Amino acid sequence: MSKADIGVYGLGTMGRALALNLADKGFTVAVTNRETDWIEDFINDSAELAGNLIAQHTLQSFVQAIKTPRTLLFMIPSGAPMDAMIAQISPLLEAGDTIIDGGNADFNATRARSDAFKDTGLHFVGMGVSGGEQGARFGPSMMVGGTQHSWEQFKPMAEAMAAKFEGNPCVAHLGPDGAGHFVKTVHNGIEYADMQMIAEVYGMLRDQGNRSAAEIGAVLTDWNKGPLQSYLIEASAAALASVDTATGLPMVDVILDKAGQKGTGRWTLIEALKLGQSASTIEAAMGARAWSSEKAMRQDSETLLTRGGQLSDVPSTSDLEDAMRAGRILSHAQGFRILQAASDDFEWALDMGQIAQIWRAGCIIRSALLDELMEAFAQDLPHGHLILAPEMRARLETTVPALRRVVAAGALLGQPVPALAAALGWYDTMTRGRGTANMIQAQRDFFGHHGFERVDQSGKHHGDWQKLAQ
Ligand code: 6PG
Repeated sequence: MSKADIGVYGLGTMGRALALNLADKGFTVAVTNRETDWIEDFINDSAELAGNLIAQHTLQSFVQAIKTPRTLLFMIPSGAPMDAMIAQISPLLEAGDTIIDGGNADFNATRARSDAFKDTGLHFVGMGVSGGEQGARFGPSMMVGGTQHSWEQFKPMAEAMAAKFEGNPCVAHLGPDGAGHFVKTVHNGIEYADMQMIAEVYGMLRDQGNRSAAEIGAVLTDWNKGPLQSYLIEASAAALASVDTATGLPMVDVILDKAGQKGTGRWTLIEALKLGQSASTIEAAMGARAWSSEKAMRQDSETLLTRGGQLSDVPSTSDLEDAMRAGRILSHAQGFRILQAASDDFEWALDMGQIAQIWRAGCIIRSALLDELMEAFAQDLPHGHLILAPEMRARLETTVPALRRVVAAGALLGQPVPALAAALGWYDTMTRGRGTANMIQAQRDFFGHHGFERVDQSGKHHGDWQKLAQ
């Protein structure tokens, strides 16, 4: 039998879908799994694509079944399982072979692994894959890190299997070592912020507008025909329209208000802070998920703490739509700012326009806004800041007033809108040439002699506070 173009290890939901996608595009794929009984089931389920799949039951035969230099795609849990796999399989590989970790991995681990591969002749690729099961099967967005050698080997397969936007594949080699996993992490951070803002708008319509799930779904369906067009609005509208077969109630009404998370949103924040950045919209989204888990406390405090008051006018759907538009631009701008900071710090030379392009189809945050961001990045942005791109300034000028009204209404009504408020707080901060950090510096020098810069002289200065205060 002829040898496989690629090997896929790990036949969970994502691994199966990616293997079938590759087989569908005419590649021969060697497949295997830790629990070997999954392998025959998978082959039996793969119908006419089975002819392009080569089932293997041991690591040795799996490796031998793949053409050299080999490309081996691993879809297994990140962390310790990946390290154990590298230790097990490396002795079976030859110079030029590439191991791809296609899971949601911490980019720091990917950098360390890439480093450990140096001078071994083997290559390590960290690849972010977005789009869930359907995306993986029919066209994901893929963010690839690693060496040029690995990319050249993998590129024809990656481009064939990726989602296409106007004919261009939504996959790119973004940079070395952890670049791919870092970009995927920030993608997920933006995903968290977008989901939270949609949830806040939903809350406003449900709690203040007294709209049913189906009615809110209809509002979102309508928005999806305009500038908010995106997978997340579409998915939220479909979820709101779904009915629970057991009770006949809207699905969203029978789902407990406690949100989980697997860690990528948290990684985005940790890395943002380490880079001296802040992603306040993503932090708000993370915080909201964390607070959601304190269900019992919230139920008690509902009767113990006083809520906000009343307003004669609750925000209109058109204000909510515009607030969501502004919030989305601002959270994307924060995400791209983190990417730029990481690119500078790690010398990755990330191409922001290219990232916007590969997020345009296949991934969870795909949206009409990303079209505009692609165009914005094609120009020289003042200070590299997306919110200063002429098109974004124009969009913000027309939508921020609504964001302001929605956040103000939320504050007066006691209707929580933490991510929208964070977006506005950041926007307002960036519109002030003279902020309030002079006060922080005065405080720091007053109690800690930390020093400050003056507006009228260069160098470091101290106040003679005891004397001056008299
Ligand atoms: C994607 C998703 C995907 C998944 C994450 C987020 O791009 O396809 O981001 O990776 O949804 O696991 O999940 P959590 O909300 O559990 O962190």
